[in-house]
Amino acid sequence: MMITLVLRALLLAGFTVSVPAGLPLPIPPLLEGKSLELTIQEGVLTLPEGISETLGFNGDYLGPTLRFSRGDKFNVDVINTLDEDTTVHWHGMHLPAEADGGPRQIINAGSRWQPRFTVDQQAATLWYHPHLMGKTAEHVYRGLAGLIYIEDSYSKSLDIPSEYGVNDIPLVIQDRRIRRDGSFIFNPGMHDVMQGYIGNTLLVNGASDAELKVPGGTYRLRVLNGSNSSIYRIRFSDGRPFTVIALDGGFLPDSHRMEQLILTSGERYEILVDFKPDEEVEVITDIYNSESYTALKIETTSEEAFYTDHPEQFRPYEISMADRPDGTRRFVMESRGMSGFMINGKTMSLRRIDERVQIDTTEVWVVENPATGMMMRLPHSFHVHDVQFLIRSINGEPPPPWLSGPKDTILLFPGDVYELILRFEDYEGIYMYHCHFLEHEDSGMMGQFEVVSPR
Ligand code: C2O
Ligand code: CU
Ligand code: CU
Repeated sequence: MMITLVLRALLLAGFTVSVPAGLPLPIPPLLEGKSLELTIQEGVLTLPEGISETLGFNGDYLGPTLRFSRGDKFNVDVINTLDEDTTVHWHGMHLPAEADGGPRQIINAGSRWQPRFTVDQQAATLWYHPHLMGKTAEHVYRGLAGLIYIEDSYSKSLDIPSEYGVNDIPLVIQDRRIRRDGSFIFNPGMHDVMQGYIGNTLLVNGASDAELKVPGGTYRLRVLNGSNSSIYRIRFSDGRPFTVIALDGGFLPDSHRMEQLILTSGERYEILVDFKPDEEVEVITDIYNSESYTALKIETTSEEAFYTDHPEQFRPYEISMADRPDGTRRFVMESRGMSGFMINGKTMSLRRIDERVQIDTTEVWVVENPATGMMMRLPHSFHVHDVQFLIRSINGEPPPPWLSGPKDTILLFPGDVYELILRFEDYEGIYMYHCHFLEHEDSGMMGQFEVVSPR
């Protein structure tokens, strides 16, 4: 705090202060146990450029990483100390509708919300963030987001790096539009709503210019695109290959060697990468339609820690389906400029249920971003609450290896058509599907589906 005050005084006095680059990468604290508390609070984030007012969970910016094992009770109290309403949504979790934390589960200013259920899905890297109608983009932008790790007996039996913050490193990547005084505020213009509120600075776990100093070895990086609407391509500065082992909802049946990955906001990947001792390499993030940034500098010491093999195969994620799906639905992502961000010609209304799906059925959802007609040609994404789905096809072709596993969010460039296979089970109730470009979502590109019992 002292340093912050000195910096602020110097900045106010008009001095240019250079903060030494290469501050250690912050690792969000781990929060696990029988009953957890997340307090939404106001905070202050210090960046090399200066200071910004922010929001955080149990801290100034972002939140702790919640870790559960399959079968654990999800026993989390969320306390909203702000003077405005919000919600907290558990993105990627299979859960009862009333625990989902979507726009229907408002946590009023000054109140407490107590979702309860049993964690029952396979090991994966998920995340949490607010989801209030029309306010999601702003609340996330100001700092409200955190990771959720789910482990199960299978993931625990694997010989891959799993020591949190040691060789299993979370990377929450976000871009922010930092003003000259170091502050950032959410103040989108018309162009920002359409193209996304793209920043001029890249933050990883809430720090810019961060550095990770570790011994040589095999590392598991869990990457979340935690931005509002930016599409990221991540790669290493020397082009070194890495092994993609998991995506949104868990492990890939076949891991895949790659040199770059594209993530839209909300998507996650887990990768394995080897570093030799005494190396220096950077994680580069190219923002679609914008600049390239060094997300993180990695420097290895002369020591060696553990090297592990990169597994080639994992237990596949299966969705039970008869020969034919129980139903097929179509979702058309439409943007007609400011006047309309719609799905199937409708903007979001909490008073309208758009789709009714029977419990214990498997459906194919065809999601389309048309590049014809009246529509503006913008990329969009599509995210579904409660379920992890499989991609059956992309533009008529089977998905590439790195998209051939459980997912909850997909990226659609203009002209793309995806077929998804979804299984609805265990819970009835109302959930959301939407474009995960938060500026589009807040402009109405969202709908509600209700899982109902057969009649
Ligand atoms: Cu991460 Cu409905 O969102
Ligand atoms: Cu979600
Ligand atoms: Cu969109």
